[in-house]
Amino acid sequence: MQKLIDLISEKVSAAFEAAGFDPAMGQAVLSNRPDLCEYQCNGAMALAKTLHRPPFEISDAVAAKLVETDSETFAAVQSVKPGFLNLTLQPEFVRGYLVKMLHEKKFGLQQPAHAAKIILDYGGPNVAKPLHVGHLRPAIIGEAVKRILRYAGNDVTGDIHMGDWGLQMGLVITELKLRRPELPYFDENYTGAYPKEAPFTLQELAEMYPTASAKTKTDENASDEEKAAAAAYKAEALEATKKMQDGDRGYRAIWRHIMNLSLPDLRRNYDHLHVDFDLWRGESDVHDVIPGMVEYFRQNGFAHESQGALVIDVTREDDAKELPPCIVLKSDGAALYATTDLATIQERVKEFRPDAIFYFTDKRQALHFEQVFRAARRSKLVLPETELRFIGNGTMNGADGKPFKTRAGGVMPLADLVADTEKEMYTRIRESNPDMPKEEAQKTAAQVALAAIKYGDLSNQPAKDYIFDMEKFTSFEGDTGPYILYTIVRIKSILKKYEEQGGSVKDALLSAPGTHAEKVLGLQLTRFADAVESAVRELAPNRICAYIYETANAFNSFYHETKILVEPDESKKQSYIALIAMTKRILETGIDLLGFDAPEKM
Ligand code: ARG
Repeated sequence: MQKLIDLISEKVSAAFEAAGFDPAMGQAVLSNRPDLCEYQCNGAMALAKTLHRPPFEISDAVAAKLVETDSETFAAVQSVKPGFLNLTLQPEFVRGYLVKMLHEKKFGLQQPAHAAKIILDYGGPNVAKPLHVGHLRPAIIGEAVKRILRYAGNDVTGDIHMGDWGLQMGLVITELKLRRPELPYFDENYTGAYPKEAPFTLQELAEMYPTASAKTKTDENASDEEKAAAAAYKAEALEATKKMQDGDRGYRAIWRHIMNLSLPDLRRNYDHLHVDFDLWRGESDVHDVIPGMVEYFRQNGFAHESQGALVIDVTREDDAKELPPCIVLKSDGAALYATTDLATIQERVKEFRPDAIFYFTDKRQALHFEQVFRAARRSKLVLPETELRFIGNGTMNGADGKPFKTRAGGVMPLADLVADTEKEMYTRIRESNPDMPKEEAQKTAAQVALAAIKYGDLSNQPAKDYIFDMEKFTSFEGDTGPYILYTIVRIKSILKKYEEQGGSVKDALLSAPGTHAEKVLGLQLTRFADAVESAVRELAPNRICAYIYETANAFNSFYHETKILVEPDESKKQSYIALIAMTKRILETGIDLLGFDAPEKM
């Protein structure tokens, strides 16, 4: 269905043409003086310059044509000096548009003729390390973009792309060997089957990795012996990583154990955040195709040796600064982060023939992706028209403006941040609903906390840093997730009461808006598709946030000015109900695109 703004522009363009002017000048825009009109057209101003005529002459002529030809669309068309067209819509026209939206799928959002195949690479957790707050943004931004692109009619596949093949695995193996050298995994002569159960628990695993990682690092006051010990430990972990990658039986068995323990834990964490993936693949999945890819690079002259390493040059003539080459193999023959990313591109192309692959990770990885994308293009792993795009997210900071930390200054586990927010939300819910049973309050708190976290994040542009402000994010007022949910809950409660009084929400008929607030809300609802389209175009969930926030505001203004349930005029009352029921559906669709939902009460 055509967007309202386009429909209006079409009518204004026709009037420009009828008055003898270029119809291209008839583009309408939202009014920047909502006190005067709803839409406006500034085309006469631009036209005046080329025609060397006073702009109001043009706007006067166009206004006259519009009034003459179209009384159904516009209630008022004013030509105001110096040459603007101020447009106000007929209430009945607004009603007609809203009713049409209700009859269409997805409120009339235009669907593409061909669905684009898009792969989203997001989440990107590293197996064996507990999720920390740094994993929050790539997960929730990627999830929202997935939902938005899918809703807009694309064929989207989300892949978690786990870091499951790197040094963290070697570190855990090294630490385990140190603690339990007697285990069969470390016995070169062992040929029997390995135990099914891991020789460690998830808790131990979560402790082993940071312990091992700390042993590879020293501060500047460290003695030479300490430095040497750290270096030796790291060398051993690197060797263990290589041995595992090269297929050592015992080490692969430990890898399996780590995966078996970590994956359910990751799933639990992501489920809790309403983040879900179609594919649970990782770096390890492309291990076997790396040699073939490297051979292909070599044979076609895409890669060359440089200081013992195998590299692909990625610098372009127009680069202001030379870009370091993309390293495919280190001098010891080991594969790197870029290698697995290139191999993953190769496999994704083979399996899905994607039109686009989008990556969601911290923006500090921008150089890595630039190198990988260029290397993929130079080596023709992708078709020239395949889009590769990096959506780098900014940092989530604490109140001090520095990356979010625990009180003690350590890395904050993601689960703790979520639990703290749920606790805060629980207190607030208890305050506003003293009668709510404890269990329900807890469930509601978890639901609203998710909205607080996600909305607090997604309402910012992905690339921007933001401050995680618990007080603000969990507030029921202002531009927050809980405010949006509170608005939905308020509508739900009115609709419920209406039905309790014998009314039928689904049969309520919409009439033409009678009051200003009613019309403002109705017009706000007509702009749903504009919001989705701009979110798609810019890959920006913040566009959806801004739209639902304005919609919630328009609803609340209407609510404060209107007595809905006690309205004596039955057709007016029905119309109010129809309007707010539609508002609820639009808000619910909006929050679903963002990846959270609303409770019944809060
Ligand atoms: N595991 C990586 C990290 O924690 C993120 C993975 C992003 N995706 C990718 N295809 N490289 O830094």
